[in-house]
Amino acid sequence: MDRLNTERLKSPAPSGNQEAPADVLSIKGLHAWYGESHILHGVEVRAARGEVVTLLGRNGSGRSTTLKSIMGLTDARRGSICVNGRETIGMPPQGVARLGVGYCPEERGIFAGLSCEENLLLPPRLPVSNATGMSLEEIYEIFPNLAERRASQGTRLSGGEQQMLAIARILRTGANLLLLDEISEGLAPVIVQTLARVIRLLKSRGFTVLLVEQNFRFAAPLADRFYVMEHGQIVETFDASLLAAKTGVLQELLNV
Ligand SMILES: Nc1ncnc2c1ncn2[C@@H]1O[C@H](COP(=O)(O)OP(=O)(O)O)[C@@H](O)[C@H]1O
Ligand SMILES: [Mg+2]
Repeated sequence: MDRLNTERLKSPAPSGNQEAPADVLSIKGLHAWYGESHILHGVEVRAARGEVVTLLGRNGSGRSTTLKSIMGLTDARRGSICVNGRETIGMPPQGVARLGVGYCPEERGIFAGLSCEENLLLPPRLPVSNATGMSLEEIYEIFPNLAERRASQGTRLSGGEQQMLAIARILRTGANLLLLDEISEGLAPVIVQTLARVIRLLKSRGFTVLLVEQNFRFAAPLADRFYVMEHGQIVETFDASLLAAKTGVLQELLNV
């Protein structure tokens, strides 16, 4: 329950919308399996509109599995995953995507035989009422490198260009919740800086981002809230305001 405080009593309610906006993503008691392997054990993560939240952890801690579970890509799952107010735990992956979830997997999934622009145009636009996908022009404005490389084959793109393309592709669909798996991995510092600028821009436009990272330096200045995973469980959750106080704990959990 929201606690009333003096600050809130003083500030006028936003016109036409007196309720605080519901979370875009709300995960409660999530368990997930690959075959017989029980990987996630009661994961809890939430994100409101325009928030960037990061899921940190060592390799094998269950971060990618959390993103796959949201998409319905694990073998079995139990618990609750609400997306834009809808329970998705029983939905197939395409049903989850249609609610406005854009998933950028670790392996990026760029089609080698298609050009940059063909890759961009591949995913269908979503029938999400409160979101419209970006046009190619808007995307090329955000990623000028992709505009230059629009006719290049997927195989000819650098790692950084492929990563930008993988992100750009989900922006075209109209997704408002972005699940990004280790997007900074293996990329040159200048590209990582570009990606950080893009995340900030998307946040300012009201996108909600769940950023799975190993790269703490990349995630730290971007995130509104931090989640740390270990053995398929969230072992630490804190807001950005507590980051300095939590540095010691993080060092222990992440070896940063
Ligand atoms: N397809 C799979 N089948 C069985 N086990 C898997 C599969 N994918 C990942 N795992 C296991 O699930 C655990 C969590 O993996 P993952 O979510 O990929 O971790 P992270 O992304 O944090 O590195 C690891 O123990 C990993 O070995
Ligand atoms: Mg992973």
